[in-house]
Amino acid sequence: MRVAGALLLVLGCEARSDPGPGRAAQVSTASDTGRPAAPKKSDERAAEREALFRSVEREAEVHDPRVLAALRRVPRHRFVPAPLSDRAYEDRPLPIGHDQTISQPTVVAVMTAAVAPASTDRCLEIGTGSGYQAAVLAELCARVYSIEYLAPLARFAEENLRGAGYLEDRVMLRTGDGYRGWPEAAPFHVIVVTAAPESVPKPLLSQLAAGGRLVIPVGPEGAVQELELWTRTGSGDGPNAFDRRTLMAVRFVPFLGEGR
Ligand SMILES: C[S@@+](CC[C@H](N)C(=O)[O-])C[C@H]1O[C@@H](n2cnc3c(N)ncnc32)[C@H](O)[C@@H]1O
Repeated sequence: MRVAGALLLVLGCEARSDPGPGRAAQVSTASDTGRPAAPKKSDERAAEREALFRSVEREAEVHDPRVLAALRRVPRHRFVPAPLSDRAYEDRPLPIGHDQTISQPTVVAVMTAAVAPASTDRCLEIGTGSGYQAAVLAELCARVYSIEYLAPLARFAEENLRGAGYLEDRVMLRTGDGYRGWPEAAPFHVIVVTAAPESVPKPLLSQLAAGGRLVIPVGPEGAVQELELWTRTGSGDGPNAFDRRTLMAVRFVPFLGEGR
Protein backbone atom coordinates (compact mmCIF):
# COMPACT_ATOMS: atom_id res chain seq x y z
CA MET A 1 0.00 0.00 0.00
CA ARG A 2 1.30 3.49 -0.79
CA VAL A 3 1.46 5.83 2.16
CA ALA A 4 1.60 9.47 3.19
CA GLY A 5 -0.17 11.08 0.29
CA ALA A 6 1.74 9.35 -2.50
CA LEU A 7 -1.56 8.38 -4.07
CA LEU A 8 -4.44 10.87 -4.28
CA LEU A 9 -7.80 9.16 -4.55
CA VAL A 10 -10.84 11.30 -5.22
CA LEU A 11 -13.86 9.57 -3.82
CA GLY A 12 -16.62 11.62 -5.37
CA CYS A 13 -19.23 14.27 -5.21
CA GLU A 14 -19.53 16.72 -2.40
CA ALA A 15 -22.64 16.69 -0.26
CA ARG A 16 -24.21 20.16 -0.28
CA SER A 17 -27.39 19.53 1.62
CA ASP A 18 -28.06 17.93 4.98
CA PRO A 19 -31.61 16.58 4.84
CA GLY A 20 -30.80 13.80 7.28
CA PRO A 21 -32.69 12.69 10.32
CA GLY A 22 -30.12 14.04 12.76
CA ARG A 23 -30.41 11.92 15.87
CA ALA A 24 -33.40 10.05 14.54
CA ALA A 25 -34.51 6.94 16.33
CA GLN A 26 -32.21 4.12 15.35
CA VAL A 27 -33.99 1.16 13.81
CA SER A 28 -32.49 -2.26 13.47
CA THR A 29 -33.52 -3.80 10.16
CA ALA A 30 -31.77 -7.12 10.08
CA SER A 31 -32.00 -10.39 11.89
CA ASP A 32 -29.06 -11.46 14.02
CA THR A 33 -28.71 -15.14 13.24
CA GLY A 34 -24.92 -15.38 13.03
CA ARG A 35 -25.21 -17.77 10.07
CA PRO A 36 -22.40 -17.64 7.48
CA ALA A 37 -22.78 -15.07 4.69
CA ALA A 38 -24.11 -16.71 1.54
CA PRO A 39 -24.36 -14.19 -1.28
CA LYS A 40 -26.53 -15.61 -4.04
CA LYS A 41 -25.39 -13.45 -6.92
CA SER A 42 -21.61 -13.65 -6.76
CA ASP A 43 -21.20 -15.31 -10.16
CA GLU A 44 -22.96 -12.52 -12.06
CA ARG A 45 -20.50 -10.39 -14.10
CA ALA A 46 -17.61 -12.21 -12.44
CA ALA A 47 -15.26 -11.63 -15.39
CA GLU A 48 -15.66 -7.83 -15.10
CA ARG A 49 -15.00 -8.01 -11.39
CA GLU A 50 -11.92 -10.14 -11.93
CA ALA A 51 -10.51 -7.59 -14.41
CA LEU A 52 -11.24 -4.67 -12.07
CA PHE A 53 -9.62 -6.24 -9.04
CA ARG A 54 -6.58 -7.43 -10.92
CA SER A 55 -5.99 -3.78 -11.77
CA VAL A 56 -6.78 -2.63 -8.21
CA GLU A 57 -4.29 -5.17 -6.84
CA ARG A 58 -1.61 -3.76 -9.13
CA GLU A 59 -2.37 -0.06 -8.71
CA ALA A 60 -3.26 0.09 -5.02
CA GLU A 61 -0.76 -2.58 -4.01
CA VAL A 62 -3.36 -4.50 -2.02
CA HIS A 63 -2.22 -8.10 -1.79
CA ASP A 64 -4.20 -9.58 1.11
CA PRO A 65 -5.75 -12.68 -0.51
CA ARG A 66 -8.81 -12.67 1.79
CA VAL A 67 -9.58 -9.05 0.94
CA LEU A 68 -9.12 -9.64 -2.78
CA ALA A 69 -11.33 -12.72 -2.66
CA ALA A 70 -14.04 -10.74 -0.87
CA LEU A 71 -13.90 -7.97 -3.46
CA ARG A 72 -14.19 -10.57 -6.23
CA ARG A 73 -17.29 -12.07 -4.60
CA VAL A 74 -19.39 -8.98 -3.94
CA PRO A 75 -21.53 -8.05 -6.99
CA ARG A 76 -20.95 -4.27 -7.10
CA HIS A 77 -23.52 -3.87 -9.88
CA ARG A 78 -26.19 -4.74 -7.31
CA PHE A 79 -25.18 -1.74 -5.18
CA VAL A 80 -25.34 1.02 -7.82
CA PRO A 81 -28.53 2.68 -9.11
CA ALA A 82 -29.91 0.66 -12.06
CA PRO A 83 -29.12 3.32 -14.73
CA LEU A 84 -25.44 3.12 -13.73
CA SER A 85 -25.21 -0.66 -13.76
CA ASP A 86 -23.07 -0.66 -16.92
CA ARG A 87 -20.44 1.41 -15.10
CA ALA A 88 -20.34 -0.68 -11.93
CA TYR A 89 -16.93 -2.18 -12.72
CA GLU A 90 -15.16 1.08 -13.46
CA ASP A 91 -12.67 2.03 -10.76
CA ARG A 92 -14.64 5.14 -9.86
CA PRO A 93 -17.03 6.40 -7.23
CA LEU A 94 -20.56 6.64 -8.65
CA PRO A 95 -23.48 8.79 -7.51
CA ILE A 96 -26.15 7.08 -5.41
CA GLY A 97 -28.36 10.15 -4.90
CA HIS A 98 -28.64 12.69 -2.07
CA ASP A 99 -25.20 14.08 -2.99
CA GLN A 100 -23.53 10.82 -1.91
CA THR A 101 -21.46 8.18 -3.68
CA ILE A 102 -20.66 4.49 -3.63
CA SER A 103 -16.95 4.44 -2.90
CA GLN A 104 -14.29 3.86 -5.53
CA PRO A 105 -13.27 0.17 -5.57
CA THR A 106 -9.60 1.06 -5.01
CA VAL A 107 -10.54 3.02 -1.90
CA VAL A 108 -12.67 0.15 -0.58
CA ALA A 109 -9.76 -2.23 -1.19
CA VAL A 110 -7.23 0.01 0.59
CA MET A 111 -9.50 0.72 3.58
CA THR A 112 -10.49 -2.93 3.98
CA ALA A 113 -6.90 -4.15 3.75
CA ALA A 114 -5.81 -1.49 6.26
CA VAL A 115 -8.14 -2.81 8.98
CA ALA A 116 -7.33 -6.49 8.18
CA PRO A 117 -10.68 -7.97 9.24
CA ALA A 118 -10.51 -11.48 10.73
CA SER A 119 -13.30 -14.02 10.50
CA THR A 120 -14.11 -13.70 14.23
CA ASP A 121 -14.14 -9.88 14.22
CA ARG A 122 -17.07 -7.58 14.94
CA CYS A 123 -17.04 -4.65 12.53
CA LEU A 124 -18.69 -1.25 12.65
CA GLU A 125 -19.16 0.86 9.53
CA ILE A 126 -20.23 4.50 9.67
CA GLY A 127 -21.83 5.57 6.35
CA THR A 128 -23.67 2.57 4.84
CA GLY A 129 -24.41 4.48 1.60
CA SER A 130 -25.13 1.79 -0.98
CA GLY A 131 -24.28 -1.10 1.36
CA TYR A 132 -21.30 -2.17 -0.77
CA GLN A 133 -18.54 -1.74 1.85
CA ALA A 134 -20.80 -3.46 4.41
CA ALA A 135 -21.13 -6.44 2.04
CA VAL A 136 -17.34 -6.61 1.59
CA LEU A 137 -16.90 -6.59 5.38
CA ALA A 138 -19.61 -9.25 5.72
CA GLU A 139 -17.48 -11.53 3.55
CA LEU A 140 -14.62 -11.16 6.03
CA CYS A 141 -16.00 -10.64 9.56
CA ALA A 142 -18.27 -12.44 12.00
CA ARG A 143 -20.77 -9.59 12.11
CA VAL A 144 -21.13 -6.13 10.58
CA TYR A 145 -22.99 -3.22 12.18
CA SER A 146 -23.54 -0.30 9.81
CA ILE A 147 -25.11 3.12 10.40
CA GLU A 148 -26.42 5.48 7.71
CA TYR A 149 -27.44 9.07 8.44
CA LEU A 150 -29.73 9.63 5.44
CA ALA A 151 -32.96 7.63 5.65
CA PRO A 152 -33.48 7.19 1.86
CA LEU A 153 -29.97 5.78 1.52
CA ALA A 154 -30.50 3.51 4.52
CA ARG A 155 -33.49 2.05 2.62
CA PHE A 156 -31.42 1.81 -0.60
CA ALA A 157 -28.67 -0.07 1.25
CA GLU A 158 -31.15 -2.38 2.92
CA GLU A 159 -32.68 -3.31 -0.46
CA ASN A 160 -29.27 -3.84 -2.03
CA LEU A 161 -27.95 -5.96 0.82
CA ARG A 162 -31.12 -8.05 0.88
CA GLY A 163 -31.05 -8.48 -2.93
CA ALA A 164 -27.44 -9.65 -2.83
CA GLY A 165 -28.18 -12.10 -0.02
CA TYR A 166 -26.31 -10.45 2.86
CA LEU A 167 -28.95 -8.97 5.10
CA GLU A 168 -30.31 -12.06 6.78
CA ASP A 169 -26.85 -13.30 7.56
CA ARG A 170 -24.34 -10.99 9.13
CA VAL A 171 -25.26 -7.33 8.58
CA MET A 172 -27.17 -5.19 11.09
CA LEU A 173 -28.37 -1.75 9.94
CA ARG A 174 -29.37 1.43 11.69
CA THR A 175 -30.55 4.83 10.49
CA GLY A 176 -29.10 7.75 12.43
CA ASP A 177 -25.99 9.71 13.28
CA GLY A 178 -22.98 7.41 13.53
CA TYR A 179 -20.97 9.95 15.53
CA ARG A 180 -21.64 8.06 18.79
CA GLY A 181 -21.13 4.63 17.25
CA TRP A 182 -23.16 1.62 18.34
CA PRO A 183 -22.39 1.36 22.09
CA GLU A 184 -24.59 -1.71 22.78
CA ALA A 185 -22.61 -3.76 20.25
CA ALA A 186 -19.14 -2.44 21.23
CA PRO A 187 -16.29 -3.15 21.43
CA PHE A 188 -15.39 -3.56 17.75
CA HIS A 189 -12.26 -5.11 16.31
CA VAL A 190 -12.71 -3.08 13.12
CA ILE A 191 -14.30 0.34 12.48
CA VAL A 192 -14.54 1.76 8.95
CA VAL A 193 -15.75 5.35 8.51
CA THR A 194 -16.68 6.35 4.95
CA ALA A 195 -17.36 10.09 5.37
CA ALA A 196 -14.84 12.69 6.55
CA PRO A 197 -15.15 14.53 9.88
CA GLU A 198 -12.69 17.29 10.78
CA SER A 199 -11.39 15.15 13.62
CA VAL A 200 -11.87 11.55 14.72
CA PRO A 201 -15.07 11.15 16.79
CA LYS A 202 -13.93 10.20 20.31
CA PRO A 203 -16.86 7.80 20.90
CA LEU A 204 -15.63 5.69 17.96
CA LEU A 205 -12.13 5.44 19.40
CA SER A 206 -13.63 4.46 22.76
CA GLN A 207 -15.49 1.60 21.07
CA LEU A 208 -12.31 0.00 19.66
CA ALA A 209 -11.44 -3.38 21.20
CA ALA A 210 -7.88 -4.15 22.34
CA GLY A 211 -5.81 -4.35 19.16
CA GLY A 212 -8.78 -2.99 17.16
CA ARG A 213 -8.25 -0.95 13.98
CA LEU A 214 -10.18 2.14 12.84
CA VAL A 215 -9.76 3.62 9.36
CA ILE A 216 -11.15 7.09 8.69
CA PRO A 217 -10.71 10.02 6.30
CA VAL A 218 -10.07 13.21 8.29
CA GLY A 219 -10.10 16.80 7.07
CA PRO A 220 -12.16 19.73 5.91
CA GLU A 221 -14.96 19.52 3.37
CA GLY A 222 -13.91 20.03 -0.24
CA ALA A 223 -10.19 19.83 0.51
CA VAL A 224 -7.73 16.97 0.36
CA GLN A 225 -8.07 14.88 3.49
CA GLU A 226 -5.89 12.22 5.07
CA LEU A 227 -6.84 8.60 5.43
CA GLU A 228 -5.84 7.65 8.98
CA LEU A 229 -5.42 4.23 10.57
CA TRP A 230 -5.81 4.11 14.35
CA THR A 231 -4.92 0.98 16.34
CA ARG A 232 -5.72 0.48 20.01
CA THR A 233 -2.44 -0.36 21.71
CA GLY A 234 -3.43 0.36 25.31
CA SER A 235 -6.39 0.89 27.60
CA GLY A 236 -8.38 4.07 28.23
CA ASP A 237 -8.95 6.92 25.80
CA GLY A 238 -5.76 8.96 26.24
CA PRO A 239 -3.23 9.62 23.47
CA ASN A 240 -1.05 6.72 24.65
CA ALA A 241 -3.85 4.24 24.07
CA PHE A 242 -3.61 4.50 20.27
CA ASP A 243 -1.13 4.29 17.46
CA ARG A 244 -2.01 6.63 14.53
CA ARG A 245 -0.69 6.33 10.99
CA THR A 246 -1.47 8.35 7.88
CA LEU A 247 -2.06 6.14 4.86
CA MET A 248 -2.70 8.49 1.94
CA ALA A 249 -4.41 11.62 0.68
CA VAL A 250 -8.09 11.17 -0.17
CA ARG A 251 -11.23 13.17 -0.83
CA PHE A 252 -14.44 11.98 0.81
CA VAL A 253 -17.91 13.40 1.25
CA PRO A 254 -18.27 15.24 4.58
CA PHE A 255 -19.38 13.62 7.82
CA LEU A 256 -22.91 14.80 8.60
CA GLY A 257 -24.58 15.39 11.94
CA GLU A 258 -22.76 15.93 15.23
CA GLY A 259 -19.27 15.46 13.77
CA ARG A 260 -19.70 18.20 11.15
C1 LIG B 1 -18.98 7.83 0.51
S1 LIG B 1 -20.59 7.51 1.04
C2 LIG B 1 -20.61 5.83 1.56
C3 LIG B 1 -20.13 4.76 0.77
C4 LIG B 1 -20.59 3.44 1.31
N1 LIG B 1 -19.74 2.96 2.37
C5 LIG B 1 -20.72 2.46 0.19
O1 LIG B 1 -20.06 1.42 0.21
O2 LIG B 1 -21.53 2.73 -0.69
C6 LIG B 1 -20.61 8.19 2.71
C7 LIG B 1 -21.89 7.88 3.46
O3 LIG B 1 -21.75 8.32 4.79
C8 LIG B 1 -23.00 8.79 5.22
N2 LIG B 1 -22.78 9.61 6.42
C9 LIG B 1 -22.22 10.84 6.51
N3 LIG B 1 -22.19 11.24 7.78
C10 LIG B 1 -22.72 10.24 8.53
C11 LIG B 1 -22.96 10.07 9.93
N4 LIG B 1 -22.70 11.05 10.82
N5 LIG B 1 -23.52 8.91 10.34
C12 LIG B 1 -23.83 7.92 9.46
N6 LIG B 1 -23.65 8.04 8.12
C13 LIG B 1 -23.08 9.19 7.66
C14 LIG B 1 -23.51 9.55 4.01
O4 LIG B 1 -24.89 9.79 4.07
C15 LIG B 1 -23.11 8.60 2.89
O5 LIG B 1 -24.12 7.67 2.60
